[in-house]
Amino acid sequence: MDFEQEIARRRTFGIISHPDAGKTTLTEKLLLFGGAIQEAGAVKNNKIKKSATSDFMEIERQRGISVATSVLAFLYNDKKINILDTPGHKDFAEDTFRTLTAVDSVIVVIDVAKGVEEQTEKLVEVCRMRSIPMIVFINKLDREGKDAFDLLDEVEQKLGLSVTPLSFPIGMGYDFKGIYNIYEKNINLFSGNSKQNIEETIAFDDIESTELEGIIGENSAQELRDNLELATGVYPEFDKEAYLEGAQQPVFFGSALNNFGVRELLDCFVDIAPSPRPKKAEERLVASNEKDFSGFVFKIHANMDPKHRDRLAFIKIVSGTFERNKPYLHVRLDKKLKFSSPNAFFAEKKEIVDISYPGDIVGLHDTGNFKIGDTLTSGEKLSYTGIPSFSPEHFRYINNADPMKAKQLYKGIDQLMDEGVAQLFTLELNGRKIIGTVGALQYEVIQYRLEHEYGAKCSYENFPAHKACWVEPMEENEEFKEFKRVKQKFLAKDKRGQLVFLADSAFSLQMTQQKYPTVRLRFTSEPTTV
Ligand code: G4P
Repeated sequence: MDFEQEIARRRTFGIISHPDAGKTTLTEKLLLFGGAIQEAGAVKNNKIKKSATSDFMEIERQRGISVATSVLAFLYNDKKINILDTPGHKDFAEDTFRTLTAVDSVIVVIDVAKGVEEQTEKLVEVCRMRSIPMIVFINKLDREGKDAFDLLDEVEQKLGLSVTPLSFPIGMGYDFKGIYNIYEKNINLFSGNSKQNIEETIAFDDIESTELEGIIGENSAQELRDNLELATGVYPEFDKEAYLEGAQQPVFFGSALNNFGVRELLDCFVDIAPSPRPKKAEERLVASNEKDFSGFVFKIHANMDPKHRDRLAFIKIVSGTFERNKPYLHVRLDKKLKFSSPNAFFAEKKEIVDISYPGDIVGLHDTGNFKIGDTLTSGEKLSYTGIPSFSPEHFRYINNADPMKAKQLYKGIDQLMDEGVAQLFTLELNGRKIIGTVGALQYEVIQYRLEHEYGAKCSYENFPAHKACWVEPMEENEEFKEFKRVKQKFLAKDKRGQLVFLADSAFSLQMTQQKYPTVRLRFTSEPTTV
């Protein structure tokens, strides 16, 4: 297979959903189709239960499992599928946002009864801003849920999408009979026997034929015809180009648990989903079929085994091939590095690979060279943009609780921040360090890891901030000088040395914006539209 064919057969995507909508179950069924696992229950649930906030073992378990499930790759119909894991827990939302910079498309899972939920809204918004192609899967059709049209409406309204159904349910919950697959023009009948996952597919392209009555009964046949007529009247025809541009989102209905509608989703997905897309670097747009290698780090994972202190940096290959033992340029450090044991991921295993292609993820053992967002190339000085930090929701001073271990503490903080566990801000006024996180859980993770991996102890103290706003660099005019003087107490530098304003309330933020209109404040460390 030549280089172009290798690229064309890759599908790298993420599944996003609100916790409990069925992401893990769907992932598992997809792996079953790919023959990557043999039995249900093999993909461990990587959820943190709500009660586990202070359970360190649970945190460790989460870390361990998320390494194993960071990338799940399998072959299906000769396509190489890479599923990138996106944690559903909101405290790890930042991890998910970063992973979304490495996907070429996503599948959004929605619970038929709950409809669009909060976490889905946030994640879809990020995908929409980046015009990532999305397919929507409405799950749990075996349960009573909302009316299909109401759901499609809700998806359009709340998620700002423009949908078109590619399948349509016949009944729902107790009365769920099956699905009419608009994309393939066939009917899938639901057996209701979840243990055996039996389903029957009947090719059926003339919905007006009276045979329909014979298959699903008189009432359901009429209802389906009416629904399809309405759907065709209301929704535009599926347009692959529009989907690829992020302007239209096809919708499938099914039940992941019962393995119903999953094959149809997968077949359509491999057919329409994009192979690796070009990526914008600060310098230029880089096409996947360029011969020279380039890639970027979107995730860093600490080693679970305390005897091996190295970390695994996950690189998404954007262009060219990545080869074992070949020297590559680490652009930020301006240093050539060679990797003797790059890991590729297959199902739940990692193995050493000699060559990887655009769309693939390689895991590189790292002893502290990498930060999230770093670029690696064959030699060209490229920097991939678009891995912004988002404003944290929680802020605390971090104090050294063991004066003998100051060095260890700062090294630990430094490395944990490189991994993207949280964000560090240093106050301009007095140099005190503040840790900002998306969820409260991270403080425990940090404290635990500082102690167990670096032998350092820390304590926290509340810092009353509401949001971190990155101050866009500007010339030193009078207004900017006054802003800096008046807000001195609330100004800090982030890890990259960018100026950040830590607003203590929504009100003070609004007042600041009104008072200093030329000072531009952003809620992300860089524009997110890339
Ligand atoms: P998540 O990764 O999005 O958080 O969701 P997950 O797949 O873990 O699914 C959440 C719950 O929903 C699980 O039940 C799962 O079995 C159930 N589920 C998933 N798909 C379907 C479906 O199509 N129909 C029905 N009826 N249920 C579905 P649980 O009881 O929370 O966990 P478990 O004990 O079954 O693992």
